[in-house]
Amino acid sequence: MKKFILFFLILGTSLFAREPQEIIDNICSSCHGINMEKRGYGVSEAPNTLSSSYILEALTKYRAGTKSDYRQGPTMTAQTSTLTDEEIKALSIYVKALGKKKEN
Ligand code: HEC
Repeated sequence: MKKFILFFLILGTSLFAREPQEIIDNICSSCHGINMEKRGYGVSEAPNTLSSSYILEALTKYRAGTKSDYRQGPTMTAQTSTLTDEEIKALSIYVKALGKKKEN
């Protein structure tokens, strides 16, 4: 029975992982714009101008509540609290790619 529950937990997290664009539309775009081109509250960098590794580290730290570069960390902690490691990784790659797309 325990094994069974574990199996469904693992299956569940991969089946229900949200796509980066879905997360952006539902959570991030209200502050950062549909292409992640806007500064959060006018103070942060525009996420789509940052490197994937920077975004990965930033989101991981915001979720843990250990980053607040512009004194608005708690705002981002609230936004990232439901993200899984997998979703953060996918977002970091996707958001960087959105910036590239705009340049072309
Ligand atoms: C309610 C407005 C709001 C929403 C929604 C929001 N952010 Fe932010 N974001 C901010 C603010 C404000 C900051 C600056 C926080 C600080 O003081 O460090 C920020 C900072 C960031 C940074 C770091 C920028 C830098 O200069 O270091 C990234 C990356 C980021 N947000 C990505 C996201 C992603 C991805 C989402 C969706 C999961 C999201 N944000 C949702 C307001 C928001």
